[in-house]
Amino acid sequence: MKNLQLILRYFKYLLTAKSKHSAQAPFLYHFVTKVLNEKKEDEYCKAIEQLRIALCNTEQIIQITDFGAGSSINNAKKRKVKDIAKNSAKNAKFGQLLYRICKEFRPKNIIELGTSLGISTCYLAKANLDAEVFTFEGCPETAAISNTNFKKLNINNAVITVGDFKDTLTTKLEEIAGVDLAFIDGNHQEKPTIQYFEEILKFANNNTIFIFDDIHWSSGMENAWHYIKAHPKTTLTIDLFFVGIVFIKSELSKEHFTIRF
Ligand SMILES: C[S@@+](CC[C@H](N)C(=O)[O-])C[C@H]1O[C@@H](n2cnc3c(N)ncnc32)[C@H](O)[C@@H]1O
Repeated sequence: MKNLQLILRYFKYLLTAKSKHSAQAPFLYHFVTKVLNEKKEDEYCKAIEQLRIALCNTEQIIQITDFGAGSSINNAKKRKVKDIAKNSAKNAKFGQLLYRICKEFRPKNIIELGTSLGISTCYLAKANLDAEVFTFEGCPETAAISNTNFKKLNINNAVITVGDFKDTLTTKLEEIAGVDLAFIDGNHQEKPTIQYFEEILKFANNNTIFIFDDIHWSSGMENAWHYIKAHPKTTLTIDLFFVGIVFIKSELSKEHFTIRF
């Protein structure tokens, strides 16, 4: 039933989404042509996809502390790493979108809620070696694999904070000098998503970019997305169905675009 609702939402998205060529505003036009459309895969991207293939083929089993949306926390169970790699990580298309966003806008301080095996973290970190990625993960054994993955790819600019976001996010935000990009990819529920947005906003600047995963995954997530779009700080939003991108630049007018990607 849930899948059917998601499919219906996806069809609605396809019907309302503008083609990439109909963007009007100069900022959006630049974003669409330079970031959404520019789909070249460089050596770093290839290395990250090789890592994904290796993870999808490993027989390793780990004890996971389940923090997924709706699950009861500390409900420890065993899971195959390859299943996590196949089901939880953003795919190459969206990983590389994160990579291009970071290459284009050069955010220095990046927050990621939901490290999992670190695949999206690798994209965020490799896009700009001068950036620092502060990534958060609740499950210690999953986080340990991410740290191994960072070593395999020589990533020295990503640090994982292990624990429930509700206990770790604010403390970390207070330690770092503001947030330039936030990728919210964990605990896909309405109230927490809104709370993370409000909390990170306190540490944001005019150029901060927010990227929310799975904005149409449930009616709760759609409510959160409506809240974020309507927020007085929000100006331009771009709905790509599987992710929503939010700009808070005050010089942009408040506009919401749904774009096929
Ligand atoms: C969808 S996965 C992240 C995937 C990763 N961003 C990628 O694309 O490679 C979400 C992760 O968030 C973690 N998570 C969910 N809710 C959490 C919470 N409240 N506190 C800490 N971690 C949480 C889960 O353990 C899971 O590993």
